[in-house]
Amino acid sequence: MITEENLRRLYLDTLEKSLIGLLLEDPPDPHIPPAGFANAAPAFTRRIREQGRDFPSKAYTMIGADRMANIRRSVELALADGVPGDFLEAGVWRGGATIFMRGMLKAYHIRDRKVWVVDSFEGMPEPEIRRFPADAPWMPWAGRLSVSLETVKHNFDNYCLLDDQVWFLKGWFKDTLPTASIEKLAVLRLDGDLYQSIQDSLTHLYPKLSVGGFVIVDDFYFFKETRQAVLDYRAAHAIIEPILEVGGNAAYWRREA
Ligand SMILES: C[S@@+](CC[C@H](N)C(=O)[O-])C[C@H]1O[C@@H](n2cnc3c(N)ncnc32)[C@H](O)[C@@H]1O
Repeated sequence: MITEENLRRLYLDTLEKSLIGLLLEDPPDPHIPPAGFANAAPAFTRRIREQGRDFPSKAYTMIGADRMANIRRSVELALADGVPGDFLEAGVWRGGATIFMRGMLKAYHIRDRKVWVVDSFEGMPEPEIRRFPADAPWMPWAGRLSVSLETVKHNFDNYCLLDDQVWFLKGWFKDTLPTASIEKLAVLRLDGDLYQSIQDSLTHLYPKLSVGGFVIVDDFYFFKETRQAVLDYRAAHAIIEPILEVGGNAAYWRREA
């Protein structure tokens, strides 16, 4: 029988597969990483894509199926429990994870929450090595992963998901986040990789995360700078909720206090 629940599941499953490039078996692009950094596979490999371990040529997100499923569970739990607030990703690249968040609002007929799409839209920052020596390995990445605001808007539009429930915040996190008009967040996803990017995101956004909300940190188990920024912030703010793992890469916890 076709119920609304079945249709919703079908839409979200298909949206997710499309956004990660599974449907068209989108091959990895060897030119995305800088010289000296290789893509995880020379050709499309289903398991690698599902684990989000390569840079797709065309797909709108690089995070793979395991981490998309984590977004879906977090959003569904936040909605089911009535956790107040918007959904946000800081570090969006082509926008796929945020398109998925917007698709979830649509699938659940939610009109009173927004999706915040936060990025430089000019690629990775040049690391401030004097202040953040841990970020030195990110030097070759400065300006990489650059996707313009217009392109990300176009990507939303391709899925008929560009509307007034999607808010874009363009610029470096340290400049945009302190004064952004974000009030409350129910799901906060951090994917800026550098120590400074994660620290700036947590400093300005974690205080806006509702109790019962989720914070998700991409690459927590992959980049030591990302992990260290999270551990330092947790220690400084006496955050003790257990850190949970997603597919050997991301980490998340649910705010309890
Ligand atoms: C690994 S990509 C994000 C991948 C994306 N979440 C996805 O679903 O495919 C990192 C993104 O973070 C952005 N970024 C990193 N540090 C930033 C900063 N300090 N300010 C603004 N954008 C930043 C980059 O422009 C890039 O788009």
